[in-house]
Amino acid sequence: MTAVIALDAVSHCFDGEAALTNLSLSVQPGESVALLGPSGAGKSTMLALLDGRLRGWQGQASVLGNQLSATRSPAREIRADIGFIFQEFALVDRLSVYQNVMNGRLGRMKSWPALWGRFGEQDHICVTRALQDTGLSDLAHRRADRLSGGQRQRVAIARCLAQDPELILADEPVSNLDPAHAERILGLITGAARSRGIGVIFSSHQPDLSRRFADRILGLRDGEILFDKRSGRVTSEDTDGLYHGASAATGLRVVS
Ligand SMILES: Nc1ncnc2c1ncn2[C@@H]1O[C@H](COP(=O)(O)OP(=O)(O)O)[C@@H](O)[C@H]1O
Ligand SMILES: [Mg+2]
Repeated sequence: MTAVIALDAVSHCFDGEAALTNLSLSVQPGESVALLGPSGAGKSTMLALLDGRLRGWQGQASVLGNQLSATRSPAREIRADIGFIFQEFALVDRLSVYQNVMNGRLGRMKSWPALWGRFGEQDHICVTRALQDTGLSDLAHRRADRLSGGQRQRVAIARCLAQDPELILADEPVSNLDPAHAERILGLITGAARSRGIGVIFSSHQPDLSRRFADRILGLRDGEILFDKRSGRVTSEDTDGLYHGASAATGLRVVS
């Protein structure tokens, strides 16, 4: 079985400062992985790398069986198979919820129908299902700039599901959601991993929710993997150590 993600000794520096250090990792189809770690740990950087947007990194990385390049973006057909849920949502404000979710289908279309906005029946089916799954059907015709933060976050998730990707990368996808919606959305994206056999990696600041929904937890700190365990094996010592242990970057140390 080809790994959805394979990283071998990947490192990255921003202006001489290490942001990712010697990461090695393999994720299989059907697996959902939560990325935990304090702010500045390197979660967003790692997700950008996997999305093919980071430049100048070192090591070997492949996504969906394609070798990533540190100098250029992946081909369009590979990008179409990767769904990314951005921390800042990246919606088009003047478009409706329905149109924003339909934008998730653009990468699947040949250029000319996409230019003319000629979506097919399958596109409308995918959008309708994604809106239902995220509880947005009633808001389909509302403009994106008239939505609350949590509703915008759900539109971003619906757009990603409508894309029908082979890999979902999500940067704090439930940070703006109330507990009920957070559970629903994590259930949806990790359920997609199982039912569609795709890979899912999401970053989060919620260890308990992550343990409940993800198959596996990766603890990242100062750009290094502190632990990589099945969810059921992650202890509160693991997560406490992640957030409260000694930090090389800040010199902070919790003594108890
Ligand atoms: N575009 C950038 N330019 C310079 N430094 C950056 C940039 N993006 C992130 N960093 C730095 O890289 C480290 C990891 O950041 P990030 O991946 O955003 O962490 P997280 O998502 O875990 O909060 C931090 O020290 C951050 O300041
Ligand atoms: Mg981040």
